[in-house]
Amino acid sequence: MAFQTLVAKKALGAAALRNGAAELGLGPALGLCQSRKLQTFSLPDLPYDYGALEPAISGEIMRIHHQKHHQAYITNYNKALEQLDEAMAKGDASRVVGLQSAIKFNGGGHVNHTIFWKNLAPTKEGGGEPPKGELGWAIDTDFGSFEALIQKMNAEGAALQGSGWVWLALDKELKKIKVETTANQDPLVTKGLNLVPLLGIDVWEHAYYLQYKNVRPDYLKNIWNVINWKYANKVYEKETA
Ligand SMILES: [Fe+2]
Repeated sequence: MAFQTLVAKKALGAAALRNGAAELGLGPALGLCQSRKLQTFSLPDLPYDYGALEPAISGEIMRIHHQKHHQAYITNYNKALEQLDEAMAKGDASRVVGLQSAIKFNGGGHVNHTIFWKNLAPTKEGGGEPPKGELGWAIDTDFGSFEALIQKMNAEGAALQGSGWVWLALDKELKKIKVETTANQDPLVTKGLNLVPLLGIDVWEHAYYLQYKNVRPDYLKNIWNVINWKYANKVYEKETA
């Protein structure tokens, strides 16, 4: 995941270090860290052009989804992380707790969309080609057939109230794949630390409304034409090796 760094001043931490250094007679010569690095995040590039997924997903949707929506999650996630850093430096427990929902929502938005872009591919690059390899076998074993899996994910996606995500997840403990849904921008990990996302489908209106209006099932039907099963299979084989 792409990240950049910025220097966060640690007021109390620096003061404590200065006092400690003074007691040891080290003074400023120590150059003690009156600052430390806080990791923040930046928008990852898409591995294809905005219009490359047409006609399944329009270029306009992809551009706005990536440049505006995903960027907004990152901007707000970074802001919340900086505020968290300040709150922790001040020992402000109440503020630390108060920031958790912003971190979950915006951090989840960044995590989920980063996966989502990788889950898609233009048809000329193999998008929509049914899964081969070990994941193909696992789908047949756990769902009966590839078609049955698609039917289940479409049904769960259509039934999801409000905004959220439909996932094909690997349960690393049970060594099985399963379908899960999460609300809002909750990432899959909120359903269990043992769950690894193989495929996530964004069912927020911003993912389809400009093209499909309120007909989410049509979006769900067409998105399979640009699903990157090679990526999902690669993750599956790595996580089950
Ligand atoms: Fe989205």
